[in-house]
Amino acid sequence: MLLQPHHLVILLLVAAGRCLAASGSVGDEGMQFTYNGFAGVNLTLDGAVVMPNGLLMLTNGTIQKKGQAFHPSELPFRTAQNATRSFSTTFVFAIFGQYSDLSSHGLAFFVSASREVLFTALPSQFLGLLNGTDVGNQSAHIFAVELDTIFNAEFRDINSNHVGIDVNSLVSLDSTDAGYYDDGTGRFQNLNLISRKAMQVWVDYDGTATEITVTMAPLGMARPKKPLLHTTVDLSGVVQSTAYVGFSSATGILTTRHFVVGWSFALDGPAPALDISALPALPRAWPKPRSKVLEIVLPLASAALVLAVGIGIYVSVQRRLKYSELREDWEEAFGPHRFSYKELFHATKGFSDKNLIGAGGFGSVYRGKLRKPADMEVAVKRVSHESRQGMKEFVAEIASIGRLRHRNLVPLLGYCRRKGELLLVYDYMPKGSLDKYLYDGSAAALDWHQRFHIIRGVAAGLLYLHEDWEQVVIHRDVKASNVLLDSEMNGRLGDFGLARLYDHGSDAQTTHVVGTMGYLAPEQGHTGKATPSTDVFAFGAFLLEITCGRRPIEQNERNNRVVLVDWVVELWRKGVIIDAVDTRIPDGFSRDKISLVLKLALFCSHPLANGRPTMRQVMQYLDGDLVLPDLSPAYLSFTMLERMYDGY
Ligand SMILES: *[C@@H]1O[C@H](CO)[C@@H](O)[C@H](O)[C@H]1NC(C)=O
Ligand SMILES: *[C@@H]1O[C@H](CO)[C@@H](O)[C@H](O)[C@H]1NC(C)=O
Ligand SMILES: *[C@@H]1O[C@H](CO)[C@@H](O)[C@H](O)[C@H]1NC(C)=O
Ligand SMILES: *[C@@H]1O[C@H](CO)[C@@H](O)[C@H](O)[C@H]1NC(C)=O
Ligand SMILES: *[C@@H]1O[C@H](CO)[C@@H](O)[C@H](O)[C@H]1NC(C)=O
Repeated sequence: MLLQPHHLVILLLVAAGRCLAASGSVGDEGMQFTYNGFAGVNLTLDGAVVMPNGLLMLTNGTIQKKGQAFHPSELPFRTAQNATRSFSTTFVFAIFGQYSDLSSHGLAFFVSASREVLFTALPSQFLGLLNGTDVGNQSAHIFAVELDTIFNAEFRDINSNHVGIDVNSLVSLDSTDAGYYDDGTGRFQNLNLISRKAMQVWVDYDGTATEITVTMAPLGMARPKKPLLHTTVDLSGVVQSTAYVGFSSATGILTTRHFVVGWSFALDGPAPALDISALPALPRAWPKPRSKVLEIVLPLASAALVLAVGIGIYVSVQRRLKYSELREDWEEAFGPHRFSYKELFHATKGFSDKNLIGAGGFGSVYRGKLRKPADMEVAVKRVSHESRQGMKEFVAEIASIGRLRHRNLVPLLGYCRRKGELLLVYDYMPKGSLDKYLYDGSAAALDWHQRFHIIRGVAAGLLYLHEDWEQVVIHRDVKASNVLLDSEMNGRLGDFGLARLYDHGSDAQTTHVVGTMGYLAPEQGHTGKATPSTDVFAFGAFLLEITCGRRPIEQNERNNRVVLVDWVVELWRKGVIIDAVDTRIPDGFSRDKISLVLKLALFCSHPLANGRPTMRQVMQYLDGDLVLPDLSPAYLSFTMLERMYDGY
């Protein structure tokens, strides 16, 4: 702290004031001192403290403690003629119990020949005066005026609020209720020692008459004329040549504070009056019963609580937003297929880019790991969609598709719906999508055996959708990038039905057609209607893709559009259809098989729906159960197709 000059002045003034407040003198015949507060006063303290404002706190509230404060030097209690001197003292005290009606033990003024007795004195009912073994032993040489706040049968106490005169014992020679006799009425007025109110006590010993009087009154009241106690007691055997004078107090099992506010003492004369106005102020109330730990922990804890609640609310609102979903009554029926967004969010590590395994078509695909079933790998497709239109039908279809099980279909596990977003959860296909193997240099080229296996698988999957399941399911988007490979390199169709989401106007009011250029059947361009036959058309394009290793429509070096079908038909016309085969396919393949697949592809790609085979027939051709009809290139008037795309 920085001290300003005016602070110093104030400090000096305060210090000077306190020095004036406390004064003492020891003369030949008498000795006296006056302490209007104890700031700067030379006292011997044991357990007691002088507070900054000058208040003497004998016990600080700690239980089972004694507190003592006494004049540091012994006082000469005998005259030159070996007579016990008279003495007079007055003091102001207050007892603060933690509870206004309950308190620990009291406080005493003492005259003690020996410090030894004080050192070994005990707290609690011994009031910091005696130690138990010396109670009643004449050699203790102690005299005290006790202000006792607890009834103790052992010491024959009269009650729990009394004043007693003690000589070498806690069994008082004389005792009475705490209080005073009103000067006017002469009536006794009770005073509650533990009232936390300051009270003044006067103790006078007449050495000649061997009489002692004890008087008390509330602070501020003039000393009552009639003393509270008036007892004959010879202190000559108690007080030796010198003795210490001071105060002691004690706590037991209840926390209590004992204060001495002011004190004056005189030998051979009346105690100087105290300057009431100069006395230090008492604490206003019992300090809140808080431990030091609590004092620090409580504010921190409450701050932390407020912060935690704040964060909690913020987080829960954020979470609610973050994990919010759309759920409608009609979805109840599809319950088991519903995933929570939170689960998918965690599975994909928050849809992190690291987990992104594909993008395009209808959205991004993320790889993820579910918690339940533990560590199950899934692919989560995030499809953005704005309209609710068609959603119900779509989800219904998803739910039913969820029941589709075929080894050439990618199992759809379920879905989740959010505002503007649909999430589809599929089994994870470790080998990725087929187009990677066809066009990317990244994956090893597939040999013909593998390709044919995939072709057959995809055909089987499509056949299942079209004919073998309880209802006709149209895939709508058959293409290499929608064919996924499982760990055994089986081709599996994925993404079935997805196009439907964008293809509401499947009947009259067609707005736009969804599918992929090059795979779209011509009639779909006109009617917008997807049929098993349009799937067959797309399958034809897929066959060409996988066999030729080319996309259905490509730009050549001269930036001209090359339609794969036209190119293959052209080669066929020239009698070299086998030249269409992907050059990356290692030798050793069956030319007949390839030529069959190419011709079947063209058959499927027939511009007219009823000119195409069904998937069942396709399977039979592939398996050699049916002989492919002898198609002439002319049968497939592809220019029609070309014209259609031009106008598209
Ligand atoms: C109270 O006084 C006792 C000695 O009587 C001491 O040990 C304790 O530390 C004090 N407590 C406080 C809070 O001052
Ligand atoms: C307090 O009084 C004692 C005994 O009279 C004395 O030895 C001691 O020096 C005094 N201390 C102070 C600070 O005055
Ligand atoms: C002084 O008086 C006391 C008791 O009255 C006595 O025990 C003691 O011996 C006396 N001392 C002297 C020096 O006379
Ligand atoms: C009790 O006090 C007396 C002196 O009055 C002393 O001799 C004795 O050793 C004390 N006993 C204990 C247990 O402290
Ligand atoms: C009184 O205390 C003294 C020592 O302090 C001891 O020698 C003596 O035996 C005690 N007397 C009684 C009656 O306990």
